[in-house]
Amino acid sequence: MSSQDNDQLTDHEYDGIREYDNPLPNWWLMTFFGTVIFAFIYWLHYEVGGGPSLKAELNQAMLALQAHKQQAVVKELSEADLETMLKDPQMAAAGALAFTGKCAACHGPELQGGIGPNLTDAFWLHGKGTREDIMHTIQKGVPDKGMPPWESMLSQNEILSLTALIVSKQDTNPAGAKPPQGEKVR
Ligand code: HEC
Repeated sequence: MSSQDNDQLTDHEYDGIREYDNPLPNWWLMTFFGTVIFAFIYWLHYEVGGGPSLKAELNQAMLALQAHKQQAVVKELSEADLETMLKDPQMAAAGALAFTGKCAACHGPELQGGIGPNLTDAFWLHGKGTREDIMHTIQKGVPDKGMPPWESMLSQNEILSLTALIVSKQDTNPAGAKPPQGEKVR
């Protein structure tokens, strides 16, 4: 006895060929109707109701991110503010630690330069070597020239401490210094 013996025969008959009534399984029907209902609601929301497109959602997320970043970024500090803040020798010490981890690969362990420019000499490519200029370059980077922007990767304090370190290393004439690049400022 096959299982089909229990199935219902339909009353169709074509040239002696008969067929069983094999309804689709419920789980299949539920999935199918589910997708139909989902598609209808989706269509109502996005096509009729003007729901946001992926692009609009992305733009919104980017704006939120931008706003968040602006909050996180150090507000413009004047040279005088920076000078007071960076006086503490602890700042430069903390900067040295961050520098070894994040910057030394390109600027050399003694800031003497390598892939990136020497940061101890009187020559600067960006700005005039003021605390403000240095901090700005660290924050925004020079992406076209291979200097990464650090504002979203380092904390405000790390950026301040790195600025303090670079200022403290001016005119230290480290061994193997890279030849000057940029404009002489002192
Ligand atoms: C992947 C390599 C790389 C890393 C890592 C890097 N830099 Fe740079 N940096 C450069 C290059 C290249 C330049 C020069 C850009 C140019 O030619 O305009 C530069 C320029 C600078 C300048 C401006 C120098 C000038 O003459 O105006 C400062 C300041 C600076 N980097 C600080 C840092 C600090 C601080 C870090 C670590 C947080 C760091 N850099 C990490 C490659 C790097």
